[in-house]
Amino acid sequence: MIPPLVYASGIQQSLAEEMAKKLGTIASPNQELNHLPHLYLSEAGLSFFHPEARSTNQFRIDFNSGSTGWRIKRANHEKLIKKALGKSERPLNILDCTAGMLQDAILFLSLGHQVTALEQSKILFYLLQDGISRSEDQSIFLQLDLIHTNACSYAAQAKNFDVIYFDPMYPPSKKNALSSGQLEYLSKILEVESLKNNPINDFEVLQLIPAKKMVVKRPIKAKSFSSQLNYQVLGKTTRFDVYI
Ligand SMILES: C[S@@+](CC[C@H](N)C(=O)[O-])C[C@H]1O[C@@H](n2cnc3c(N)ncnc32)[C@H](O)[C@@H]1O
Repeated sequence: MIPPLVYASGIQQSLAEEMAKKLGTIASPNQELNHLPHLYLSEAGLSFFHPEARSTNQFRIDFNSGSTGWRIKRANHEKLIKKALGKSERPLNILDCTAGMLQDAILFLSLGHQVTALEQSKILFYLLQDGISRSEDQSIFLQLDLIHTNACSYAAQAKNFDVIYFDPMYPPSKKNALSSGQLEYLSKILEVESLKNNPINDFEVLQLIPAKKMVVKRPIKAKSFSSQLNYQVLGKTTRFDVYI
């Protein structure tokens, strides 16, 4: 169920009502709903709040702040992703089946590739669209097509992709439960929308999409989804299983 969309003031009312209609929820000025899970529309954009999340901040997608730090932290990750994609003379057409917070998709885009990113969560899809609309750098998103759908439903119409990228949620563990407030919020969003996945089943459907290769992100110690994998690119905590 999509929680109510609370708006900060009359300025946001019509946009909130339009958005709530598309989301399938109600728009309300009632700040008393603030102790329940809710979406919040203010001048700062759209955010999501869940009272049980450890972070007291609302969850918002922000492509403007911390980008330099983010790039430095992700430099190693970028090397691994580049290796998994392999060398290419021309931009690749990538299907990112698991958009999430678009972090990997932005890496692909920054390497000059074309990305179609699929996200099953309606809430996250709207948060992403809001983050993109507020981004100071619109140029990076020109080669992005973001679609709200389940990748398995999209699979039958998926054509002309060079790479299928699949990064399902990691199984909950004590370590990753504590690692990131953002990931915890992502889980809360999926929980309120009652979205449950079976990554092995999803993998079996997605690997049927015609493409030159499939890249699957896995925790370093996790079992592969299939023994048919061709090679692995290993990081410290993550690896990429590559199927050709
Ligand atoms: C681990 S996150 C992906 C993180 C993403 N790679 C990033 O860099 O931000 C998994 C995301 O994929 C979405 N997802 C999982 N299975 C999906 C499916 N079958 N179709 C569409 N989205 C899916 C989840 O809703 C979640 O937002």
